[in-house]
Amino acid sequence: MTLDLFIRYIHFLGIISLSSALVLEHALIDREMSPTQLRRLVRIDAIYGLSALILLVGGLGLWFWVGKPAAFYSANPLFHIKVTLFLIMAAISVYPTLFFIRNRNAQGAVVSIPKAVVMAIRVELLLLIFLPLLAVLMAAGVGARG
Ligand code: HEM
Repeated sequence: MTLDLFIRYIHFLGIISLSSALVLEHALIDREMSPTQLRRLVRIDAIYGLSALILLVGGLGLWFWVGKPAAFYSANPLFHIKVTLFLIMAAISVYPTLFFIRNRNAQGAVVSIPKAVVMAIRVELLLLIFLPLLAVLMAAGVGARG
């Protein structure tokens, strides 16, 4: 396997594991959860974070290292929108992450989950829908200036 193909594989691996972890978090989150359930979310959330890192490394590799010249992407506003949406997702994810970590050892039988935590995960899922669309468009050169 060439380096180019390997980095593409890494990028897709990151996409698959990040999406799976996010969908799983959304399926498991409830209005009230026990600290044991929250500890499970902390583990899934750690997979989400690791996946985002793998995805980012793959993306940076595709941008600067292998494949088309970096300028091909840097000159395309759709690419910048793609990276910005990814960074917004990462920023939003800090809130649920901190909530899960802070409450994983809470005293008592149940922890009430704020609606904003659920909404944060939903907004991330919504943004995730647009990323592959922007990816295929910018890979095909759609939106490129000049
Ligand atoms: C959740 C986040 C992301 C998703 C879902 C995603 C999705 C994809 C997909 C589906 C492709 C293949 C496009 C194709 O070959 O038609 C791709 C390629 C690519 N992605 Fe991402 N990506 C994400 C994040 C990033 C980030 C953060 C970067 C940059 C730092 C990045 C940079 C690239 C580059 C440079 C390519 C190569 C396009 C080509 O083959 O010409 N991606 N991405």
